[in-house]
Amino acid sequence: MSYTNDPYDPKQVAYLSPEALDEAVANAREAFDAAENLDELTAVKHRHLGDKAPILLARREIGALPPAAKADAGKRVNMAKSAATAAYDARAQVLQKQDQERVLREEAVDVTLPTVPRRRGARHPINLMADRITDIFVGMGYAVTEGPEVESEWFSFDALNIHADHPARTMMDTFYVAAPNKEHSGLVLRPHTSPVQIHTMIEQEPPIYAVAPGRVYRTDEVDATHSPVFHQTEGLVVDKGITMAHLKGTLDHFARAMFGPSVKTRLRPSYFPFTEPSAEMDVWFEAHKDGPRWIEWGGCGMVNPRVLTACGIDPDVYSGFAFGMGIDRALMLRHGIADMRDMFDGDVRFPLALGTEE
Ligand code: PHE
Repeated sequence: MSYTNDPYDPKQVAYLSPEALDEAVANAREAFDAAENLDELTAVKHRHLGDKAPILLARREIGALPPAAKADAGKRVNMAKSAATAAYDARAQVLQKQDQERVLREEAVDVTLPTVPRRRGARHPINLMADRITDIFVGMGYAVTEGPEVESEWFSFDALNIHADHPARTMMDTFYVAAPNKEHSGLVLRPHTSPVQIHTMIEQEPPIYAVAPGRVYRTDEVDATHSPVFHQTEGLVVDKGITMAHLKGTLDHFARAMFGPSVKTRLRPSYFPFTEPSAEMDVWFEAHKDGPRWIEWGGCGMVNPRVLTACGIDPDVYSGFAFGMGIDRALMLRHGIADMRDMFDGDVRFPLALGTEE
């Protein structure tokens, strides 16, 4: 074997000198210690511990050394590398800890801080009941219609076959808003939802299957069972071949969907100018708070041919039925509410107590 035993060229192995290595380690330590966060530390790591860093370049120079010098030089390089790596690790640890502390500090949530209590809201039980009733009819293919609460006398009475001198006008104690003038037949707060029947028949061609929930007004004193503002749902069907059997079947389905499958209904002959024949519908309440009994729930009947005619519908071709039910009444019955005033005085605990909130 022949190899040169010449002293190595110090220029060629400049990085390997103990001084150079010491300096490289010192530089690395200084740079690492100067890094103020982990990003900066990572940025300087490459310069001092990467492939082109003085310590790593020194390792490459070992090959150029005579065998006798290799072991020594190797040891020095390794020590330098470990020292620089240790300096890096030490700094990394410090910075990591600082970072964790910062995150803990900045993202801390003080669970003991008082908060603004959030009051749960709820839809009013009357609205929920109105929706419930509407849903039952929408399920049978009915459309929802509406009319104004300030209504003309013509829609409220005349078109419904209740003429000015008809005794039924006084049956419904009406709030009068404006006397008749050139523009209208007088304005009232509608005392029932039946004027919506008229709007619907004037605006739509039969077949008509419509349900109209809404607010109505009568000059009643407030007490446990009366309120000057209450709610009704009007129902109207106009089609070919509609009979009273359809009315009875529809109301039976409605009552069972509302109050349960065991509920019974009966129709009692009655009188409304806009229906002929007319009936009151009663519902048998087994679980009524004062014992089982019939409860009057609303009026109904076959649409009077005179009303169809007033709305431009030929009574020889079409027939229909209509009904009007109290929404507040349904709510009181369904939930055993004894005093109507509870439904209107706006105490937010009321819907929660009923358990109807959604
Ligand atoms: N409008 C009537 C009332 O308020 C109820 C009713 C509606 C009766 C439809 C017959 C047909 O008392």
